[in-house]
Amino acid sequence: MKVLAQILLLYISLAVARKYCTRTFHSSIINNQTLFIDGGEVRYLEDNDTISAYAIRDLQTVDVSKSFSNTDSDLFTHIEKPYNASDPDTYPTFFDEGSQFNDGQNLYFYGGYISGRDGPKDVAPVETWKYDIQNNNWTRDGFGGVPYVRLAEGGAVVSHSQNKAYYLGGIEDPGGNPNVYGTAGADVQIVSGLLTLDQSTLTWSNLSTEDMNNYGTIGAGYVNILEDVGDEGLLVSFGGYKYPVGSKLSLLCAKQTNASHHNPMEYITLYDIANQKWYTQQSTGDVPTWRMAGCSVTVAAADRSSFSIYVFGGMAATTAKSDGDVYILSLPSFRWIRVNEGSSIREKHTCNLLGNHTMVVVGGTIPTDSSEYEPKPVNCDSGQFENGIAIFNLNDHTWLTDYNAADTSEYALSSVITDVIGGSSTGGANVTQPANGFNNTALATMFEKAIITPTTSATTAAATAVANATSTSTSANGNPSGTGSSKGTTLSKGGIAGVAVGAVAGASAIAGLVFFLLKRKRAQPTPDPTVVYPPGLAPQGRFAELSGGHEGYELGPKTRSGAPAAETNGNWWQKTPNIPEMDGVGMVEKG
Ligand SMILES: *[C@@H]1O[C@H](CO)[C@@H](O)[C@H](O)[C@H]1NC(C)=O
Ligand SMILES: *[C@@H]1O[C@H](CO)[C@@H](O)[C@H](O)[C@H]1NC(C)=O
Ligand SMILES: *[C@@H]1O[C@H](CO)[C@@H](O)[C@H](O)[C@H]1NC(C)=O
Ligand SMILES: *[C@@H]1O[C@H](CO)[C@@H](O)[C@H](O)[C@H]1NC(C)=O
Ligand SMILES: *[C@@H]1O[C@H](CO)[C@@H](O)[C@H](O)[C@H]1NC(C)=O
Ligand SMILES: *[C@@H]1O[C@H](CO)[C@@H](O)[C@H](O)[C@H]1NC(C)=O
Ligand SMILES: *[C@@H]1O[C@H](CO)[C@@H](O)[C@H](O)[C@H]1NC(C)=O
Ligand SMILES: *[C@@H]1O[C@H](CO)[C@@H](O)[C@H](O)[C@H]1NC(C)=O
Ligand SMILES: *[C@@H]1O[C@H](CO)[C@@H](O)[C@H](O)[C@H]1NC(C)=O
Ligand SMILES: *[C@@H]1O[C@H](CO)[C@@H](O)[C@H](O)[C@H]1NC(C)=O
Repeated sequence: MKVLAQILLLYISLAVARKYCTRTFHSSIINNQTLFIDGGEVRYLEDNDTISAYAIRDLQTVDVSKSFSNTDSDLFTHIEKPYNASDPDTYPTFFDEGSQFNDGQNLYFYGGYISGRDGPKDVAPVETWKYDIQNNNWTRDGFGGVPYVRLAEGGAVVSHSQNKAYYLGGIEDPGGNPNVYGTAGADVQIVSGLLTLDQSTLTWSNLSTEDMNNYGTIGAGYVNILEDVGDEGLLVSFGGYKYPVGSKLSLLCAKQTNASHHNPMEYITLYDIANQKWYTQQSTGDVPTWRMAGCSVTVAAADRSSFSIYVFGGMAATTAKSDGDVYILSLPSFRWIRVNEGSSIREKHTCNLLGNHTMVVVGGTIPTDSSEYEPKPVNCDSGQFENGIAIFNLNDHTWLTDYNAADTSEYALSSVITDVIGGSSTGGANVTQPANGFNNTALATMFEKAIITPTTSATTAAATAVANATSTSTSANGNPSGTGSSKGTTLSKGGIAGVAVGAVAGASAIAGLVFFLLKRKRAQPTPDPTVVYPPGLAPQGRFAELSGGHEGYELGPKTRSGAPAAETNGNWWQKTPNIPEMDGVGMVEKG
């Protein structure tokens, strides 16, 4: 009992002393005006100036239907995942570098690997989980299609008009593969392929990526979808790393500086979904230095005469070459434009388009050469990145700490962009092809067809189409992202280009992969006596009665009817420190 009391006291002291520092390796998505953040790790700054790390077990949300500030103390709501320690494999788990997709009513969780920071003890079977938001119901039943593996660091995007998710490239990590986890010699390896999940039929398929680059692989790249271009959308990807299929990445950690493993920023790889065809197109302008593990969102001019892909952050070959600038790649001119300079460098964050003209950045960390993911205390998130939430206004290209939900104005192209591509804030771009022309006329045609022509007879219809698309997709994802239904006419391509959902699904520098492999191995076998377990994890832990001090966690949806009952005493296991309230518990790694 005395030991118990001491552990308790330690807990209480930990609970008050720590401060949120960083969130990394998570995925995020906005569905129906709610930002969902899943998995990954949170790092805390302890009062003795050391940093502790915890895997995040629950699903966290931010209500973005209303105005908020990134300093709000009630920013995050926690949705506990059901769990039963006697049969963990039949319950949803939590991973680093997983991905989320959505269809308006449900979220889908795919990919990842177990965190070395108090992650699951075993790798769950390869599966996809579906979360019915309204009914708070998790299920992994009903999925079919090609046999697939669990991947990480691929690019994940959703086409809401097709109700399909796409997952491009990525790596297979032993921590995501129950067959090899813990096996000597098991290594991270790069794979090829474009996986797609039909969210209507829950069917997976695998499309070839032979023409993607010389290897058909991409990891931690920038992957976006323009739903309004082509009959079923156009994937646009650049950056990230590439290696021959099957390369063992941990042995190549020193080669991040080798440009032959860089998937370029200058040569953009595009995929016409309807025709299953890959294209390569050269870009010009302020082409950013090569990078990986940053994030991007896409937004269209009102008339679809241009599409702006906003790119923020990421890790270059070295930290010295990295920048925290915001760039746009404007299509179809294929011009890069630097629109904001001077933020600190950042990697492993995710971005989402919120409303018509806001980019919300979630998490991330400031890398240093010696320790890429272990932040220095001085670099813990604050100010612009308070609580790991940053807000970037796409209309005037400024960083904000507050989101104004009342500002429903449309995306307006800033003069920084129209100076390059012509036209006005609503479109009318007259630079509509790459500097040296289109490599393939099929691409040119796809972009031409996307334009909403402002002829007098079409004006009313165009306005209606946009309005229809907007209202449809508000119910789908809270953003006016192309949900035009009658394909083949220019007017049907309603809405703004789809959001790049966690364009980089977490993603890490290669060196980081090694780090996590080592961490996981160390954290794996037997319980470390120097580790303080949260009550639910402690072998003899029946600490449920101590949970009173943490009511803050019980902020999940009020409607819990039909939800699988969570194990009464095991609940702690799933919980994650509540970031704004700094009152968490978790496993503290000593030393
Ligand atoms: C710092 O504080 C944490 C949490 O109280 C503790 O686990 C850790 O051992 C301390 N580290 C040092 C170096 O004192
Ligand atoms: C969107 O959220 C609102 C309020 O939370 C809810 O009433 C509505 O049913 C949701 N729509 C969908 C499509 O889930
Ligand atoms: C997808 O198919 C390609 C061959 O086209 C194969 O090499 C790759 O392993 C497959 N990817 C997955 C994740 O199954
Ligand atoms: C860079 O990578 C390529 C392809 O793997 C290899 O042939 C070359 O030797 C590497 N260069 C250096 C300097 O390591
Ligand atoms: C044109 O496409 C080919 C093949 O897809 C590619 O190798 C080449 O780099 C592209 N050239 C330009 C200028 O985009
Ligand atoms: C986006 O812009 C349209 C057209 O101005 C407007 O009707 C809609 O309410 C806006 N949506 C949001 C979420 O701001
Ligand atoms: C595009 O229009 C601008 C005026 O908006 C004009 O200055 C420019 O010369 C035009 N460029 C092209 C390529 O037509
Ligand atoms: C927009 O929606 C209205 C009502 O659902 C429908 O009558 C109209 O045909 C739609 N317009 C277009 C262009 O889809
Ligand atoms: C949860 O969803 C599954 C699959 O749709 C369904 O079979 C099950 O009845 C649902 N459970 C509850 C409690 O609603
Ligand atoms: C957990 O699973 C075990 C074995 O399947 C079962 O006996 C027990 O009732 C479950 N606990 C809860 C809270 O559902």
